[in-house]
Amino acid sequence: MPTAKRCPESGRELKVAEKKQCELRVALRMLAPGPIALITTMYRDHPNVMTAGWMLPLSLEPTLIGVAIQPARLTHEFISKTGRFAVNIPTVDLMSAVHLCGMQSGRDDDKFASANLNAEDAAEIEAPLVAECVGHLECEVLDRVTIGHHDLFVGEVLAVSTNDEAFAGMWDVAAEAGQLLHHLGADRYAGLAKAYRATLPDDE
Ligand SMILES: Cc1cc2nc3c(=O)[nH]c(=O)nc-3n(C[C@H](O)[C@H](O)[C@H](O)COP(=O)(O)O)c2cc1C
Repeated sequence: MPTAKRCPESGRELKVAEKKQCELRVALRMLAPGPIALITTMYRDHPNVMTAGWMLPLSLEPTLIGVAIQPARLTHEFISKTGRFAVNIPTVDLMSAVHLCGMQSGRDDDKFASANLNAEDAAEIEAPLVAECVGHLECEVLDRVTIGHHDLFVGEVLAVSTNDEAFAGMWDVAAEAGQLLHHLGADRYAGLAKAYRATLPDDE
Protein backbone atom coordinates (compact mmCIF):
# COMPACT_ATOMS: atom_id res chain seq x y z
CA MET A 1 0.00 0.00 0.00
CA PRO A 2 1.62 3.35 -1.03
CA THR A 3 2.22 5.80 1.82
CA ALA A 4 0.33 9.12 1.98
CA LYS A 5 2.19 11.85 0.08
CA ARG A 6 1.93 15.60 -0.22
CA CYS A 7 1.64 17.57 -3.43
CA PRO A 8 5.10 19.21 -3.89
CA GLU A 9 3.52 22.39 -5.31
CA SER A 10 0.59 23.02 -2.91
CA GLY A 11 1.83 21.11 0.13
CA ARG A 12 -1.64 19.54 0.45
CA GLU A 13 -1.97 15.86 1.34
CA LEU A 14 -2.91 13.64 -1.60
CA LYS A 15 -6.01 11.72 -0.58
CA VAL A 16 -8.28 9.16 -2.15
CA ALA A 17 -11.39 11.06 -3.30
CA GLU A 18 -14.88 9.81 -2.31
CA LYS A 19 -17.16 9.42 -5.33
CA LYS A 20 -20.83 8.67 -6.05
CA GLN A 21 -22.39 7.22 -9.21
CA CYS A 22 -24.09 9.71 -11.58
CA GLU A 23 -26.35 9.51 -14.64
CA LEU A 24 -24.40 8.88 -17.85
CA ARG A 25 -25.04 12.29 -19.48
CA VAL A 26 -22.94 13.87 -16.69
CA ALA A 27 -19.92 12.46 -18.58
CA LEU A 28 -20.18 15.17 -21.24
CA ARG A 29 -20.14 18.03 -18.75
CA MET A 30 -17.16 16.49 -17.02
CA LEU A 31 -15.15 17.04 -20.21
CA ALA A 32 -16.62 20.50 -20.93
CA PRO A 33 -13.76 22.60 -19.49
CA GLY A 34 -11.15 20.51 -21.34
CA PRO A 35 -9.24 19.09 -18.38
CA ILE A 36 -6.25 16.81 -18.73
CA ALA A 37 -7.08 13.19 -17.92
CA LEU A 38 -5.50 9.91 -16.92
CA ILE A 39 -6.59 7.00 -19.11
CA THR A 40 -6.56 3.66 -17.31
CA THR A 41 -6.56 0.25 -18.98
CA MET A 42 -6.00 -3.36 -17.96
CA TYR A 43 -4.85 -6.34 -20.01
CA ARG A 44 -4.23 -9.77 -18.48
CA ASP A 45 -3.90 -8.41 -14.90
CA HIS A 46 -1.50 -5.70 -16.10
CA PRO A 47 -2.95 -2.25 -15.25
CA ASN A 48 -1.68 0.89 -17.00
CA VAL A 49 -2.27 4.62 -16.72
CA MET A 50 -1.49 7.26 -19.38
CA THR A 51 -1.96 11.02 -19.53
CA ALA A 52 -4.26 12.31 -22.30
CA GLY A 53 -5.30 15.78 -23.38
CA TRP A 54 -6.99 15.06 -26.68
CA MET A 55 -10.55 14.17 -25.66
CA LEU A 56 -13.98 15.39 -26.66
CA PRO A 57 -17.69 14.88 -25.94
CA LEU A 58 -19.41 13.35 -29.02
CA SER A 59 -23.02 12.36 -28.29
CA LEU A 60 -25.65 12.68 -25.56
CA GLU A 61 -27.90 9.67 -26.37
CA PRO A 62 -26.09 7.29 -26.36
CA THR A 63 -23.43 9.03 -24.28
CA LEU A 64 -20.25 8.95 -26.34
CA ILE A 65 -16.82 10.52 -25.93
CA GLY A 66 -13.67 10.41 -28.07
CA VAL A 67 -10.03 9.99 -27.07
CA ALA A 68 -7.22 10.35 -29.64
CA ILE A 69 -4.34 7.98 -28.92
CA GLN A 70 -1.17 7.32 -30.90
CA PRO A 71 -0.67 3.70 -31.99
CA ALA A 72 2.78 3.55 -30.29
CA ARG A 73 1.26 3.88 -26.78
CA LEU A 74 0.83 0.81 -24.57
CA THR A 75 -2.59 2.28 -23.82
CA HIS A 76 -3.48 1.98 -27.52
CA GLU A 77 -2.51 -1.69 -27.46
CA PHE A 78 -4.50 -2.40 -24.27
CA ILE A 79 -7.62 -0.58 -25.50
CA SER A 80 -7.41 -2.39 -28.85
CA LYS A 81 -7.16 -5.75 -27.07
CA THR A 82 -9.83 -5.24 -24.40
CA GLY A 83 -12.20 -2.63 -25.87
CA ARG A 84 -12.38 -0.93 -22.46
CA PHE A 85 -10.82 2.14 -20.83
CA ALA A 86 -11.55 4.69 -18.11
CA VAL A 87 -11.06 8.46 -18.19
CA ASN A 88 -10.00 9.71 -14.75
CA ILE A 89 -10.11 13.44 -13.97
CA PRO A 90 -7.27 14.69 -11.73
CA THR A 91 -6.88 17.99 -9.88
CA VAL A 92 -3.86 20.31 -9.79
CA ASP A 93 -2.47 18.44 -6.77
CA LEU A 94 -1.80 15.46 -9.05
CA MET A 95 0.25 17.47 -11.56
CA SER A 96 3.55 15.62 -10.92
CA ALA A 97 1.84 12.24 -11.28
CA VAL A 98 0.05 13.38 -14.44
CA HIS A 99 3.29 14.61 -15.99
CA LEU A 100 5.10 11.38 -15.15
CA CYS A 101 2.30 9.26 -16.66
CA GLY A 102 2.64 11.31 -19.85
CA MET A 103 6.43 10.99 -20.07
CA GLN A 104 6.95 7.31 -19.29
CA SER A 105 5.45 4.22 -20.87
CA GLY A 106 3.87 1.35 -19.04
CA ARG A 107 6.07 -0.85 -21.23
CA ASP A 108 9.03 0.18 -19.01
CA ASP A 109 7.41 0.96 -15.70
CA ASP A 110 4.48 0.27 -13.35
CA LYS A 111 3.20 3.85 -13.38
CA PHE A 112 0.67 3.32 -10.59
CA ALA A 113 3.70 2.61 -8.36
CA SER A 114 6.12 5.20 -9.76
CA ALA A 115 3.48 7.99 -9.71
CA ASN A 116 2.28 6.84 -6.27
CA LEU A 117 -1.31 6.42 -7.46
CA ASN A 118 -3.83 4.07 -5.87
CA ALA A 119 -5.97 1.82 -8.07
CA GLU A 120 -9.61 1.26 -7.18
CA ASP A 121 -12.23 -1.00 -8.74
CA ALA A 122 -14.43 0.37 -11.49
CA ALA A 123 -18.20 -0.27 -11.47
CA GLU A 124 -18.58 -1.64 -15.02
CA ILE A 125 -15.17 -2.44 -16.49
CA GLU A 126 -12.14 -4.48 -15.51
CA ALA A 127 -9.63 -1.63 -15.82
CA PRO A 128 -8.87 0.10 -12.49
CA LEU A 129 -9.68 3.72 -11.67
CA VAL A 130 -7.22 6.22 -10.18
CA ALA A 131 -8.55 6.60 -6.63
CA GLU A 132 -7.13 10.13 -6.10
CA CYS A 133 -9.02 11.52 -9.13
CA VAL A 134 -12.30 13.40 -8.56
CA GLY A 135 -14.25 11.91 -11.48
CA HIS A 136 -14.32 8.81 -13.66
CA LEU A 137 -15.89 7.84 -16.99
CA GLU A 138 -15.90 4.10 -17.66
CA CYS A 139 -16.05 3.36 -21.38
CA GLU A 140 -16.51 0.57 -23.90
CA VAL A 141 -15.08 1.13 -27.39
CA LEU A 142 -17.84 1.54 -29.98
CA ASP A 143 -15.71 2.64 -32.91
CA ARG A 144 -12.17 3.49 -33.91
CA VAL A 145 -11.25 6.02 -36.59
CA THR A 146 -7.71 6.65 -37.81
CA ILE A 147 -7.10 10.39 -38.04
CA GLY A 148 -3.56 11.30 -39.10
CA HIS A 149 -1.09 10.01 -36.51
CA HIS A 150 -3.76 9.18 -33.96
CA ASP A 151 -6.63 6.75 -33.65
CA LEU A 152 -9.80 8.27 -32.27
CA PHE A 153 -11.39 5.71 -29.94
CA VAL A 154 -15.10 6.39 -29.60
CA GLY A 155 -16.14 5.26 -26.14
CA GLU A 156 -19.68 4.58 -25.00
CA VAL A 157 -19.89 5.69 -21.37
CA LEU A 158 -21.06 2.80 -19.17
CA ALA A 159 -20.66 4.43 -15.74
CA VAL A 160 -19.83 7.85 -14.31
CA SER A 161 -18.80 8.77 -10.79
CA THR A 162 -17.88 12.14 -9.29
CA ASN A 163 -16.77 13.64 -6.02
CA ASP A 164 -19.50 15.81 -4.43
CA GLU A 165 -17.12 18.55 -3.31
CA ALA A 166 -15.70 18.90 -6.84
CA PHE A 167 -18.75 18.40 -9.06
CA ALA A 168 -22.37 19.44 -8.52
CA GLY A 169 -23.95 19.32 -11.99
CA MET A 170 -20.79 21.02 -13.27
CA TRP A 171 -17.24 21.41 -11.97
CA ASP A 172 -16.87 23.81 -9.06
CA VAL A 173 -13.51 25.34 -9.96
CA ALA A 174 -13.69 27.69 -6.96
CA ALA A 175 -13.64 24.73 -4.55
CA GLU A 176 -10.29 23.27 -3.55
CA ALA A 177 -11.51 19.81 -4.61
CA GLY A 178 -12.60 21.09 -8.04
CA GLN A 179 -9.33 22.63 -9.24
CA LEU A 180 -8.92 20.72 -12.49
CA LEU A 181 -5.63 20.52 -14.31
CA HIS A 182 -5.17 21.86 -17.85
CA HIS A 183 -2.19 21.40 -20.16
CA LEU A 184 -0.57 24.41 -21.84
CA GLY A 185 2.29 22.56 -23.60
CA ALA A 186 5.59 20.85 -22.71
CA ASP A 187 5.93 20.83 -18.88
CA ARG A 188 3.47 23.73 -18.30
CA TYR A 189 0.07 23.24 -16.74
CA ALA A 190 -2.60 25.60 -15.41
CA GLY A 191 -5.74 25.64 -13.29
CA LEU A 192 -8.96 27.56 -13.95
CA ALA A 193 -8.96 30.47 -11.50
CA LYS A 194 -12.57 31.63 -11.59
CA ALA A 195 -15.98 30.77 -13.03
CA TYR A 196 -18.20 33.45 -14.67
CA ARG A 197 -21.96 33.36 -15.24
CA ALA A 198 -23.30 34.57 -18.59
CA THR A 199 -26.65 36.40 -18.91
CA LEU A 200 -28.86 37.22 -21.92
CA PRO A 201 -30.65 40.58 -22.35
CA ASP A 202 -34.01 38.93 -21.36
CA ASP A 203 -32.54 37.86 -18.02
CA GLU A 204 -32.52 41.48 -16.70
C1 LIG B 1 0.08 16.61 -20.91
C2 LIG B 1 0.16 15.41 -21.81
C3 LIG B 1 -0.92 15.09 -22.64
C4 LIG B 1 -0.87 13.97 -23.49
N1 LIG B 1 -1.93 13.68 -24.30
C5 LIG B 1 -1.89 12.59 -25.11
C6 LIG B 1 -3.01 12.25 -25.92
O1 LIG B 1 -4.07 12.88 -25.88
N2 LIG B 1 -2.88 11.16 -26.74
C7 LIG B 1 -1.75 10.39 -26.80
O2 LIG B 1 -1.69 9.43 -27.57
N3 LIG B 1 -0.67 10.70 -26.02
C8 LIG B 1 -0.72 11.75 -25.16
N4 LIG B 1 0.34 12.06 -24.37
C9 LIG B 1 1.53 11.20 -24.41
C10 LIG B 1 1.36 9.90 -23.58
O3 LIG B 1 0.80 10.17 -22.32
C11 LIG B 1 2.75 9.26 -23.39
O4 LIG B 1 3.29 8.89 -24.65
C12 LIG B 1 2.75 8.07 -22.45
O5 LIG B 1 4.10 7.78 -22.12
C13 LIG B 1 2.09 6.83 -23.04
O6 LIG B 1 2.04 5.85 -22.04
P1 LIG B 1 1.76 4.31 -22.31
O7 LIG B 1 2.79 3.81 -23.32
O8 LIG B 1 1.95 3.68 -20.95
O9 LIG B 1 0.38 4.17 -22.83
C14 LIG B 1 0.29 13.16 -23.50
C15 LIG B 1 1.38 13.47 -22.66
C16 LIG B 1 1.31 14.58 -21.81
C17 LIG B 1 2.47 14.89 -20.91
